[in-house]
Amino acid sequence: MAKKIGILTAGSDSPGLNAAIRAIGKTAIGVYGMELVGFLDGFHGLIHNHNMPIKASTLSGILTIGGTILGTSRDIPQDRIYEDNQTDLVDRSIQTYQELGLDALICIGGIETQEAGYRLTQHGLNVITIPKSIDNDVPMTDMTIGFSTAFEIAAQSIDRLHSTAHSHHRILVVEMMGRNAGWLTLAAGVTGGADVIVIPEIPYDPQKIALAIQKRKEAGKQFSIVAVAERIISQEQVEFIQYLKDINEMKHSGEEQEQVAERLERLEMRFTDSTLLLANRLEKYTGLETRITILGYLLRGGAPSAGDRMLATEFGTACVSLVNSNCFGIMIAKHGSKVEPVDLEQVVGKEKPVPLDHSWILSARAVGTQFGD
Ligand code: F6P
Repeated sequence: MAKKIGILTAGSDSPGLNAAIRAIGKTAIGVYGMELVGFLDGFHGLIHNHNMPIKASTLSGILTIGGTILGTSRDIPQDRIYEDNQTDLVDRSIQTYQELGLDALICIGGIETQEAGYRLTQHGLNVITIPKSIDNDVPMTDMTIGFSTAFEIAAQSIDRLHSTAHSHHRILVVEMMGRNAGWLTLAAGVTGGADVIVIPEIPYDPQKIALAIQKRKEAGKQFSIVAVAERIISQEQVEFIQYLKDINEMKHSGEEQEQVAERLERLEMRFTDSTLLLANRLEKYTGLETRITILGYLLRGGAPSAGDRMLATEFGTACVSLVNSNCFGIMIAKHGSKVEPVDLEQVVGKEKPVPLDHSWILSARAVGTQFGD
């Protein structure tokens, strides 16, 4: 009997999601004669059984459209109690899966989605995940859906900021999304010709950045572009947090120590206004007028790049062929030119920071880009 598959897109929207849905749908329906159900708004749709049938007609014309036709949300099935106070959200998800008579569930999303997919796998569901994130921060895959488009938008934005920076002799600080990883800022910074790139993986010293900008000024370059990731951290902040951690270990023990450690970890993740702080300091130290541009959600919007359409098509088609072979509990990944399955167990609980010896960093340094370290 033909298989019945559920699909959902979860977490933040990203260009290329529709291309993945299309690839899954066309292969599942056209090649294997499978039946498809789409859950609305990510795991929310699975938990509450909000779904729509996906037919061949649903898939036409969506390859080039941004966002996701299924909608998305940040809801995840976890051991949280549902409104009826009896069942948890994992049980609700399992119930929907069983009620619909699904043979498999395909979850397209970022790190949290991989973790949710793994949790459902542990509860016996047949899950395959596809990595998506403009941040490219999902472990065990070279590339995620959405990164290529965001990279292109970010690089083009830096190109455009050059005009104002150059004409007004200003420092232009441009902030990009990326969560804890600097992939997007690094890639866009290198290709957009940023003079300074600041990423979370490399804590910065504002004096060093100011000195580099000062040197450019002395060499007759009256402007600088500083590409900054959204969660940058200064060397000073790192030292301060370390100081608090040391005090915590010295002064507290047991549960109290754990509580303070947890709060410090949250604080470390939530330095807000870090871009503003850096911009203010640069203006003060260099005497150059400094302006900030935050690219924000522009990075996630609009039509997917050709690169994302290709990746989404490769991931989507490979995924269905693995469903057909009853291969579950895996994430589809890109390794070099290959598309391969990886055990979800190997993906969860990890991060994917930019390695400090990554060739993008080495090349940037070689062409004189400063990292503030
Ligand atoms: O993970 C993608 C991403 O765009 C991050 O770069 C950013 O930190 C986050 O999502 C923003 O989330 P939200 O859409 O919930 O504001």
